[in-house]
Amino acid sequence: MKKYFFLGLIFFASSLHAQKFENLAKTPPMGWNSWNKFECDINEQTIREIADAMVVDGMRDAGYVYLVIDDCWQIGRDSSGNIIADPNRFPSGMKSLGDYIHSKGLKFGIYSDAGTATCQGRPGSRGYEFQDARTYASWGVDYLKYDWCNHGKQNAEASYTTMRDALYKAGRPVVYSICDWGVSKPWEWAAGVGHLWRSTEDILNCFDCKNYWGGNGVVQIIDLFTDIGQYTGPCHWNDADMLEVGNGVLTPSEERLHMSMWAMFSSPLMAGNDLRKMDRETLEILTNSEVLAIDQDKLGISATRWMKYGDLEIWFKPLEGETWAFCFINRGSQPVNLDQDLKTTIKKYKVDGSYTIRDLWKHQDLGSSKDNVKMTLAPHDVLMIKLTRSSTH
Ligand code: GAL
Repeated sequence: MKKYFFLGLIFFASSLHAQKFENLAKTPPMGWNSWNKFECDINEQTIREIADAMVVDGMRDAGYVYLVIDDCWQIGRDSSGNIIADPNRFPSGMKSLGDYIHSKGLKFGIYSDAGTATCQGRPGSRGYEFQDARTYASWGVDYLKYDWCNHGKQNAEASYTTMRDALYKAGRPVVYSICDWGVSKPWEWAAGVGHLWRSTEDILNCFDCKNYWGGNGVVQIIDLFTDIGQYTGPCHWNDADMLEVGNGVLTPSEERLHMSMWAMFSSPLMAGNDLRKMDRETLEILTNSEVLAIDQDKLGISATRWMKYGDLEIWFKPLEGETWAFCFINRGSQPVNLDQDLKTTIKKYKVDGSYTIRDLWKHQDLGSSKDNVKMTLAPHDVLMIKLTRSSTH
């Protein structure tokens, strides 16, 4: 009898912990991550300046609240096995840095790895999961990105579940970001384990390219998202990887296309550029509230590729309140006429009634779905529109 009482107590305590994690990511998490721009070249000063910039630039107020320090902050373990932050680069320590980040109204994210070492050879959490989770809680960590290098023969689901249990046990609510690059098809098992999972290998800073280890340009990631949309939704998101907006390679139209499609996929949005030095155009692309609203739509439905005519693709996404987002993207190097005007397109989709059409990048109404709105799309450009019902006929 006593045994059942104690088992019941343990079950009750762990479900209380689980509850604290349940609603942390009702919409896709947004923030900034150090990797795309800085890789291992990070230190406390840069992170503090990024935190300042997130407030001054208006990124925080646009919704980018998680500041995530990626690989290379850790340097070893002490004789008791506690993880140690690099004292040369982070002399004040992670608790103090976390306090600073919190003082700016931001949330503090950190990175580790499910294997014995991170991808850059720093200590991984394998065998130290519960100890590391307690340490992160004591530093005030709110978000953990958990990578998959040096995992030997570990099973992904079991390894990621161990860290989830460790986070539950430590008791501090943490958004848990699974990063096995889609290798184990986490969309099939991870909804009860993490809040988001990387669905592809790393993004590369290019529009259309691939590399030898599986890195992907923007359009390659878009292709990889054609079949996994049904797995995403509130509190468990397909993650299309961190943004390359503002990193000096993509053109403004490519950056708009990149942002638009990440929003169409309801992907988490982690800016990956140097926020201290961004120009106005980059800031406007990252903080376009009409586009961010598509990403953050409460239904959390990922877009479907509805048509592909050569280089032209048409994607749609149902939104809350009988509204719709459509993206027309031109992947090629020649302009594309939307020979089908928007009226025909919308009719083909069998959306009944009349809708007003709003261009989300130009912030302009284009007329009604009953008008013949014709367009030409420049190479690598996007038309992103929202349809709002104006009448039933
Ligand atoms: C990769 C991961 C990247 C970055 C890098 C750090 O495995 O996909 O986003 O975290 O490791 O070493």
